Amino acid sequence: MPSGLQALAGKFVVFDGLDGCGKTTQMDRLEKKLRVLEVPVIRVREPGSTPVGEHIRELLLTSRGEGLHIRSEMLLYMASRAQLVYEEIKPALNKGITVLADRYTSSTLAYQGTAGGIPQQDILDVARAATDNLWPDLTIILDVPLDIALKRIGSAKKGTALQPGLFQDRIEKRVGEFHEKVRTGFLEQARTFSQRYRVISAKGSREEIAENLEKVLLGYFAGATN
Ligand code: TYD
Repeated sequence: MPSGLQALAGKFVVFDGLDGCGKTTQMDRLEKKLRVLEVPVIRVREPGSTPVGEHIRELLLTSRGEGLHIRSEMLLYMASRAQLVYEEIKPALNKGITVLADRYTSSTLAYQGTAGGIPQQDILDVARAATDNLWPDLTIILDVPLDIALKRIGSAKKGTALQPGLFQDRIEKRVGEFHEKVRTGFLEQARTFSQRYRVISAKGSREEIAENLEKVLLGYFAGATN
């Protein structure tokens, strides 16, 4: 068994958590490290990443999706996922390429399931059909209290040159209670599927989180003891 991050070769690893948990930063760092180690890797994000997925993303995350029933919303996330699995994820894994995914079925379970009220089993059944039973080797939940997540989203937005209108994101308007439920949903999944999930506290500095993440990945894939 390889002793370092090379052990991630050919694995499918999902990063998930509340908006503002810092997934993108940690995925950027890990991707760079893997490239330095010459581990072939691709990055995907949900919803989106494929041409069809980007159309679905626009429908879901802008006012165009106003009036969508929660079950239609769930099916659209799954449709984007099905496309992504067939166009990108499966072909990469078949070639032994590592796949780092920004969100996957874990997001649907937390947002449309725990927070949105759709029974978990319904989502798992649809996910099985949509992905042809493709589950990640590991799902990392970056766990952060809601106030910190909201602060991070706020400062990221202030720092951009984009017009204010672009951030009238339909999903991010649902604050407070909804996101508390989403957080609970992620933590419950991690308990239910404890063999394939790991929770990392995303409260600290980027460096601290990166250090913990590496320890967890090494422990999981390379059999390191801590
Ligand atoms: P995005 O702008 O990609 O934000 P982030 O950087 O936080 O991932 O928005 C994705 C949004 O879609 C996010 O609020 C979570 C939501 N979502 C669901 O509700 N269900 C899902 O299945 C997925 C994949 C995402």
